[in-house]
Amino acid sequence: MAQPVTEWVNVTGDTSIIARESGEVWFHTRKGTEADVDPFVAPMTGAGSLGSTARLLDGAINLGFTGIEKRLARPEPTLAGYVVALVGAYHTSVHTPRNLRRAAKRFEELGRPEVAAYLELRAREETGHDRLALKDLRALGVPGERLVANFMPEGIEPLCKCFDDLCAQDYPIGCIGYSYCLERIAALKQDSDIEKVQALCPDGIDATRFLRSHSSLGSEASHVAETIEFVASLPANDRISVVRETYQSALIMADGYNHELLKSETEMLAEMEQAIGEPLPRIAGSSPSQGEELDTRPAA
Ligand SMILES: [Fe+2]
Ligand SMILES: [Fe+2]
Repeated sequence: MAQPVTEWVNVTGDTSIIARESGEVWFHTRKGTEADVDPFVAPMTGAGSLGSTARLLDGAINLGFTGIEKRLARPEPTLAGYVVALVGAYHTSVHTPRNLRRAAKRFEELGRPEVAAYLELRAREETGHDRLALKDLRALGVPGERLVANFMPEGIEPLCKCFDDLCAQDYPIGCIGYSYCLERIAALKQDSDIEKVQALCPDGIDATRFLRSHSSLGSEASHVAETIEFVASLPANDRISVVRETYQSALIMADGYNHELLKSETEMLAEMEQAIGEPLPRIAGSSPSQGEELDTRPAA
């Protein structure tokens, strides 16, 4: 009988994520252990498996969010915060197909048609998602095109740069880790999360197109499953790079969340109004109708 698969990746300093095919996962910190007795010092070289690769990827996200979650004081959800989130969603979506195709072209040149085909498929699936965010902004009475042209949420800019840079690398496999991180977090959103956002919106207004499609109700759950399957099939060096970039993306994303969530509704509105040079009266002074906590930052 074949040995069950164990995978591991050193993601930062002395910390490695170790995962078994059976679903166990843990973080391993090397503390002066001699290399010859610590089997996780050397990079893994074996094949992946669905169970272990999925746990490595999710472990990378969890590790990236450690430390941020604890000090994250969630403010009351507001329509202004949701509008900022939609602008962020637009910016993280608008160049995705172009970036993925750039990376796909590079893998064609490198003689890796299976990676190119995977990235081409992703590029097709992600096409038009920026327009969903624009439609939602318009539905809320916000001049969407003008707002996105003039306003980039501070927490989103480093994420966009990260993806641009990963897709432009000579060996751009890390872009899969970035995409996994954003899609996995989006896929955590449930029906109830969408209902809470809907409750913030004026009656009869549908401004949750992007959120629905980037949630467990939309395509994200299948994108996540397909990515795990694809990453598990990659050689060990590629899986290591993907998991490391998943971790780096989670760090950047967590930092951005923290940054944006510390702003008040007034600050968010002022930033947007300054960017477009006009007031946004329809989204000012809103408050949740149910008074529940909500993280309204969608991502994709
Ligand atoms: Fe997606
Ligand atoms: Fe998307």
